[in-house]
Amino acid sequence: MVLEIFEFLGSLHPLVVHLPIGFIILTLLVNILIKTKNNSVKRIITIGWFFSFISGFIASIFGWFLGDNNYYLESQINIHKWTGFAFVIITFLIWMLRALNFNLSKSFNRISNIVVFALISITGHFGGEMTHGKGYLVKSIPFLKQNKIPTVLLTEKENSLDSIYVYENLIYPVFEEKCIACHNKKDAHGGLNMSKFENIIKGGNSGLGIQKGNPYKSLIYKRVSMSQNEANFMPPAGTPLSFDQVAILKWWIDNGAKLKTPLTKLRNDENIRSLVEENYKLDLREKSYIETLNLAPVDENKLEVFKEEKYHWRFLDSEKSLLDVKFIGKKITRNDIELLTKLKDNVIWLNLSNCQLKDELLSFLSQFPNLARLRIQNNNLTDKCIIYTMDIKNLRELNIYGTQVTDASFNIFSKMKKLEKIFLWNSKVTPLGIQKFKTQNPAIEIISGL
Ligand code: HEC
Repeated sequence: MVLEIFEFLGSLHPLVVHLPIGFIILTLLVNILIKTKNNSVKRIITIGWFFSFISGFIASIFGWFLGDNNYYLESQINIHKWTGFAFVIITFLIWMLRALNFNLSKSFNRISNIVVFALISITGHFGGEMTHGKGYLVKSIPFLKQNKIPTVLLTEKENSLDSIYVYENLIYPVFEEKCIACHNKKDAHGGLNMSKFENIIKGGNSGLGIQKGNPYKSLIYKRVSMSQNEANFMPPAGTPLSFDQVAILKWWIDNGAKLKTPLTKLRNDENIRSLVEENYKLDLREKSYIETLNLAPVDENKLEVFKEEKYHWRFLDSEKSLLDVKFIGKKITRNDIELLTKLKDNVIWLNLSNCQLKDELLSFLSQFPNLARLRIQNNNLTDKCIIYTMDIKNLRELNIYGTQVTDASFNIFSKMKKLEKIFLWNSKVTPLGIQKFKTQNPAIEIISGL
């Protein structure tokens, strides 16, 4: 009961503190503005100092109760606490000296006015920071717009998006800013230490901090998303999490709360994707394979290969580094293909259709690291050729309609990690084989006409 009364009085502190501020400012104004001070003016000033002292005294006792609940940072409280006490003691002394009719010199008067004004300003400012958050004063100055986009993300943006992780880059920095001060190894309020991933998951005295897959059973999510009026709301002091920070935290927990969930996984969820794109100025759209390639322009000398006019060719990009090549003769030979290996890094699309291509000739293609689309349809090819295509590291699209390829090839297709699309009508595959393959490899598109 007594504790509850103390807690109630503590909660009155933010209200009561405005009294000494009002009284002292009024007293100082009377003191400064009224130049000729007869006895009644002097008496009013003395009473003013008394009220400043007594209201300050009551506010500081209430403040003591409030500070006791651990909801504020020791480092933040300290300055506020000591300047507050200094204010109470000095207003008390000045009131006493005046009440006892001490003859105070003009300069003493001036200095004490300045000191007391400085004390109430500092105390008030740090008190304000505790309730409204650090930097609350500057935040609303209209011409001082702050850049809210985290710099870490901006520099990492240049690298691959795949190496940006949701927890490390979007969630932990928020905890670091808004929670760690009260939830660290040394100072773990509620038994919760948020300085390490494992401890965040584990939680504090009341159990699981994060229940993977279920935000509503995750105490950390519950505490930051409940109404701010509730006593349990976190953080108890300072700026709450913003709407997008809460939304990202929820999405992350929903999606398994993994240490290494890449940012690109956000793509699959339209709402959260646009939220992150907007807040972090990122473009999360999937880049096509060609956009991700960063090759040097083709050496002019190497283009000699095309002098014999066996191939049609063109550049796919304005930097002249990506090649689309098509064999135009009736029958392709080993020599013809060997010629092309000079350009092996730059050939991205290759068309060797309808030119009596033999299985064995495809063995050369394992040397083409960036080849993404291969068209070898309408040749007398068998399952053997598929074994060779398996070695083309970045193959995305394979066109083998009008060949002798059978269901046996499906085994190999399912091992080709990058493969996205296969064209194979008019071949020896069966509808059943295709059906089976599709259920096992839903990500690979089969265009069969069957
Ligand atoms: C100014 C200090 C302070 C800050 C900042 C703070 N907390 Fe707390 N937190 C406490 C105190 C004190 C308790 C224990 C009393 C209680 O449970 O309300 C607590 C308890 C908790 C608990 C309950 C732990 C348990 O198992 O009982 C969770 C969860 C929590 N805080 C999450 C957070 C999160 C998330 C943040 C950052 C958004 C945060 N806190 C910021 C002071 C703080």
